[in-house]
Order: sequence, then structure tokens, then C-alpha cells
Amino acid sequence: MQVLENISLKKYNSFGIEAFAACFSNFKTVDEARELIALNRTSNQKRETLILGGGSNILFTKNVDGLVLKNEITGIEKVEENDEHVYIKAGAGVNWHSLVLYCIENNFAGIENLSLIPGNVGASPMQNIGAYGVEIKDVFYQLEALHVEDGNLVTFNLADCAFGYRESIFKRRYKNQFIITSVTYKLNKKPFFNTSYGAIEQELEKMQVKELSIRAISDAVINIRSSKLPNPAEIGNAGSFFKNPEVPKDQFDNLKNAFPNLVGYVLENGHVKLAAGWLIEQCGPQDTVSWKGYRAGDAGCHAKQALVLVNYGNATGAEIYSLSSAIIQSVKEKFGVLLEREVNII
Ligand code: FAD
Ligand code: EPU
Repeated sequence: MQVLENISLKKYNSFGIEAFAACFSNFKTVDEARELIALNRTSNQKRETLILGGGSNILFTKNVDGLVLKNEITGIEKVEENDEHVYIKAGAGVNWHSLVLYCIENNFAGIENLSLIPGNVGASPMQNIGAYGVEIKDVFYQLEALHVEDGNLVTFNLADCAFGYRESIFKRRYKNQFIITSVTYKLNKKPFFNTSYGAIEQELEKMQVKELSIRAISDAVINIRSSKLPNPAEIGNAGSFFKNPEVPKDQFDNLKNAFPNLVGYVLENGHVKLAAGWLIEQCGPQDTVSWKGYRAGDAGCHAKQALVLVNYGNATGAEIYSLSSAIIQSVKEKFGVLLEREVNII
């Protein structure tokens, strides 16, 4: 548990952006984390702390003039069970997809639709990760987090987390105030299959699945994701760069009149969620028809998924950020809709 100085963060972020941390360390236990924050608190050069998981939802636009702490708390355990549910507690440093595979192996249902999302358990509540009709809030039981100021371990239950679409209290009011050390999920012993979203049904048919299972759903999700999302090991990216924007129904109706192919989904609150990928695809820089597939230097907009910005090699965080600003501006000009960045900008 050494504190290192001036460390490159390139291999610690899935965008593959070069940035340096003034100080860097990692921790494998809650006590080590507590020690590191206490050391920082009492130092006469107290530094801002940034917690890093898998670095798959971060864009570094500058060096970090503070202390980067990489969470490596591992371990998966069954803490409780009854006839219907099983409660699985995982260390914040456990790779998310390995937890999904562990649950599938043991027939614990609920997170199979969230297969292949990069990153670690500790970040799963940060933005209430979601895909293919399921969000963390649907299976969340509680989490433990260290308060950076006093080192106390605090338990947060579902109602405390203020989960929303790609939102939680840790992204807003408690930003940078807590280190999530473990998360407990409430999973189902009797699976409830969720195949209604997107292309899952079609993919299951293509796979010629005879009997539905959580493994089959996981495999279908993996196939769909692999067909359109760039693998960060090959092309730097952080998944969807923007959120899908919500607009009131009358704004949607007006837009739909003007743009009949507009893609939107009606929400329970009556608003409509627009497919930002479609909006981006319909706009472009002046001399190009569409942002989709656009490239300037090593910064680009993915050719198969316009919502994903990519680093082809040596783009800087500032270049990716500036591309995102140009996209926001052109979507605003054409549709009057303001896109919000989903990725955490540092
Ligand atoms: P990091 O990028 O390391 O951190 C993200 C944020 O959380 C940062 O602000 C960081 O400071 C904070 N943080 C991380 N760990 C902790 C902790 N233990 N305590 C306190 N704060 C912490 N997301 C989805 O929701 N759905 C998807 O379908 C999806 N698909 C993706 C596909 C690709 C190809 C990629 C690259 C990303 C995708 N993402 C998706 C985004 C990303 O995978 C998730 O946001 C993931 O949860 C990030 O985990 P991480 O460990 O890499 O977090
Ligand atoms: N679309 C286009 N062009 C594009 C991309 C999308 O027209 O280039 C339209 C299509 O009509 C498509 C629709 O948008 O049917 C939806 O696309 P997709 O199913 O790929 O999903 P998404 O809305 O672009 C969201 C999440 C993803 C998540 C998938 C599956 C957000 C911001 N993104 O993407 O999450 O995996 O749904 O549930 O909500 C992430 O957060 O990083 C992420 C990848």
C-alpha cells in the first residue's frame, strides 16, 4: 500500500487517455482504504481524492492534481437466503461481469441482462448501471461506503441512494464524499425472464434457444452488445457518452411531425425518452452528412453506435470533450434538444 507519485493513468481508463495522477495508491481492504484517507487527511498537503474502479466511465481532460485511489477489494459471499431470494455481497473491486457469471453459474437471477458491462461492482450504484430493461436499482439491497472525511463505514439502503436513470446520490449530493466498499444484491431463486427489451427475442430465436434460461439471456445480450459496442481493449471508449434525453410528450409529438423517423419510448411519467444515437446520427459537421463514423485525428464517433465516442489511439481527453461539445451543439440546433454527458468528466 504505497503512495506513488506522478503515475500515468493511461492503462487505468478504458478511453486509453494519457493523464497523470500527482499521487496514486490502491487498497485491498476497508482498513487499507481507511488508512490511506486518514494519511491524506492529516497530511499538511491534503489532496482531493478520486476513487477509481475499472475506469470505464471516465474521461480525463487534464492531469489529476490529487490522490487517485484504486479500489481492489475483492470477494463474493452469500450473506442470507430465503425461499425466494438470495443476498449476494460483493467487494467493490470485483469485476462486474465476473459477478454476473458467478450468479449465472449458481442460478441466481436478476443481473443476466446486465452482462458484459465493463467496470467493477463499486461503480454499479454510482450511475445505477442499466441495460436491456434492467437497472441496478431493481436488484439492489444495500451498500457500505467509507466516509472520506471521518473514515466511518456507513450503510446505504435502497431508499437512501436516490437512484434514477444513470443517477444516484453518489453522483450528486455525495459526489467524492464516499468510497463504496461493498454492494449487496437481492437476487431471485426463481428467475423472472426479462426478454422484452430491444433485440433480445430476435437474438434468442437466431440462437435457436429451445428452453429459456438466465444463461441464454446472458449469451443473447453478450451477442447483441458485441455486435455494436466497440471493445475498449481494441478501441478506447467509455460506452454511451451521452444520456438518452427525456422530453415532454407534446415536444415529442412536434418533433415527430417534423422528423417522422424519430425514435422515442414513452415512459411511465408520460415523458418520452429519445434515442440520442438517432439524433446524433441525423446531424453532422458542416462538410459531413453524419457524426456517425466521423473522425478528427484520433477522436471519433463510433461507426456502429453514434452514442459512443472513441479514441483511435492518441486522442487527448480535451479533443474527445471538444467533439462532444460540437455534437451537443449540432443536436441542439437541429432538434432543440440538449444532450447531457453521461461519462464522468475529470
Ligand atoms: P469508473 O469509471 O472507475 O468510475 C466511474 C465513477 O464512479 C467515477 O466518478 C468514480 O470516481 C466513481 N467510483 C468508482 N468506483 C467507486 C467506488 N468504489 N466508490 C466511490 N466512487 C466510485 N454503463 C451502463 O450503465 N450500461 C451499459 O450498458 C454500459 N455499457 C458500456 C459499454 C462499454 C463498452 C463501456 C466502455 C462502458 C459501458 N458502460 C455502461 C459504462 C461503465 O461500464 C459503467 O458506468 C461502470 O459501472 C463503470 O465502472 P468502473 O468500475 O469502470 O467505474
Ligand atoms: N440508434 C440509432 N443510431 C445509432 C444508435 C442508436 O438510430 O447510431 C437508435 C436505434 O433506433 C436503436 C435505438 O437508438 O434502436 C437504441 O439503441 P441501442 O439499443 O443501441 O441503445 P441506446 O439507447 O443507444 C442504451 C444505453 C446503453 C445500453 C443500451 C441497451 C444509455 C445512455 N445507453 O443505449 O448503455 O447498453 O441502451 O440497454 O442509456 C452506457 O450507458 O454506456 C451504455 C452503453
